[in-house]
Amino acid sequence: MKNWNKLADKYEDLQTREDSLDTLVEFPIQRQLVGNVEGKRILDLACGSGRKALQLAHEGAAYVLGIDISESFISNWDHREKPAHLAFAQGDISRLRDIPELQGQQFDKVLLFQALTYSTDIPGTIADIRALLPPGGQLVLTTVHPFRFVVEKQDRLGAAPGDAYRGESFYSFPTIWDPTVTLSHATPMFSTVVNAIIKNGFCIDQVIEPDLSDTQKKKYSHKAQWMAKYFGIVAYDCHAV
Ligand SMILES: C[S@@+](CC[C@H](N)C(=O)[O-])C[C@H]1O[C@@H](n2cnc3c(N)ncnc32)[C@H](O)[C@@H]1O
Repeated sequence: MKNWNKLADKYEDLQTREDSLDTLVEFPIQRQLVGNVEGKRILDLACGSGRKALQLAHEGAAYVLGIDISESFISNWDHREKPAHLAFAQGDISRLRDIPELQGQQFDKVLLFQALTYSTDIPGTIADIRALLPPGGQLVLTTVHPFRFVVEKQDRLGAAPGDAYRGESFYSFPTIWDPTVTLSHATPMFSTVVNAIIKNGFCIDQVIEPDLSDTQKKKYSHKAQWMAKYFGIVAYDCHAV
């Protein structure tokens, strides 16, 4: 959490650059999967700066609640103007059931973008999300591609690919946003994430592994190189059963 507080200021500037992977790959697929938000109650978990939550509030959502562990991201909203139907609260996705602002709440859509691997209890996080949705409610989950961690562990630890993939323990490495800041990720296999979703009351409607378009690859060759090595993200579109 402290490390995310250190990153909070520069993270938003880096994320909103025209050549960021969030701009080019991640947010386009996330926004597409979320679909129509008009009149919907939306929970954006690990919402970061709250930029995406704000956009959905402007696009007609009835209510948007953003939760993040980093007080730097959340307390920024004490000084910023926001619509009345947008709210933020501090909380840990590993223990959603303990967050006071979520008690007794139900949402139409829950979003968890690029943060599942910070949970210390991935099945517990998914189970708690399920409790916040009615049957038919949507979960849009995007997460680091598991092969990204295989490459990182091969490069940094000299691990064999199969061992790197199967070794699911938390793994720390310097962020691409600021090499002086180290973040720790759980490194789940595909089966761990998929089983956490389907064994906790969800059906997976589609899984997408987005890439840059050919035009983007030409224009942003540094990002094409990064994607070629690190795979990018996996997006899961799910509904509660
Ligand atoms: C890569 S950023 C993604 C932010 C946002 N979801 C997006 O897509 O732009 C990861 C976010 O997860 C938050 N985070 C890290 N660990 C968390 C935890 N245990 N509970 C809640 N949020 C957490 C960080 O503070 C940060 O805002």
